[in-house]
Amino acid sequence: MNFLGKTILVTGSASGIGRSCAELLLEHGASVVGLDVNQSSLTNEHYRHYTIDIRYEPKVTDALDEIEALYGKIDGLANCAGVYASSKPFYELDIDEWNKVISTNLTGLFILTKHAAKKMIKNNMGTIVNVSCIRSRIFRPDMADYAASKGGVVALTSAMALDLQQFNIRVNSVAPGFTYTGMTAKSFDNPEVRDFSEKIIPAGKIALSVDIAKVILFLLSEMANYINGETIFVDGGFKISK
Ligand SMILES: NC(=O)c1ccc[n+]([C@@H]2O[C@H](COP(=O)([O-])OP(=O)(O)OC[C@H]3O[C@@H](n4cnc5c(N)ncnc54)[C@H](O)[C@@H]3O)[C@@H](O)[C@H]2O)c1
Repeated sequence: MNFLGKTILVTGSASGIGRSCAELLLEHGASVVGLDVNQSSLTNEHYRHYTIDIRYEPKVTDALDEIEALYGKIDGLANCAGVYASSKPFYELDIDEWNKVISTNLTGLFILTKHAAKKMIKNNMGTIVNVSCIRSRIFRPDMADYAASKGGVVALTSAMALDLQQFNIRVNSVAPGFTYTGMTAKSFDNPEVRDFSEKIIPAGKIALSVDIAKVILFLLSEMANYINGETIFVDGGFKISK
């Protein structure tokens, strides 16, 4: 995969899957623009970071205008920013807890992608990859806010793909399974949780963030030029074992 001369935006680039995605894209020659509510420790001459909350549309449009002016075009977008569930049954969730998860995982992704897509449309090309989750399909208690947001990402991915097809822009998503990142380190550093998780994953191990990033790069690349509107589960066989 060669991303030389390509400008790729990565949200959630300060940690986990987004960070791995940014690093892997840099290794493959891309210029990477990271957008994250947190600062990034990633230093590379081809990496530029925006400390920004993707939920605030005026900040997003300002940043994207600046990026377009600096780089001339946006070739790709990986939407990796996200937050975890409030971890309560849905009937105990207050509206602020519900809104926090939905506004980040679904509405923030919509805002960023809407404005990035408008810039891609001008060049009649682009690729977008969203990050969903196995919890869009396989459920467990106390995850209603997260499951709704990630199911929404799967549906939004296909809907966006149809809207953008005429502009030569593809939109796909990945649905990771259990992955060791900033979001999950506390759980997976607990040996009991780790052992239990590894037992229920057919692959027998928890993914590293780079395992997910590799598939995101594939979907962003020309290698995936005939895949559109699709969600690929990257879960070590977890979904098919259920
Ligand atoms: N780790 C897993 O097991 C797992 C499994 C399935 C899906 N996912 C999804 O993968 C994506 C990446 O998660 P991760 O595991 O790498 O977690 P992470 O916490 O390591 O990284 C998420 C990043 O998103 C950023 N972020 C959060 N809210 C933001 C906002 N409003 N604006 C801008 N940036 C924001 C955070 O600052 C953080 O750097 C998320 O969408 C998550 O739901 C993770």
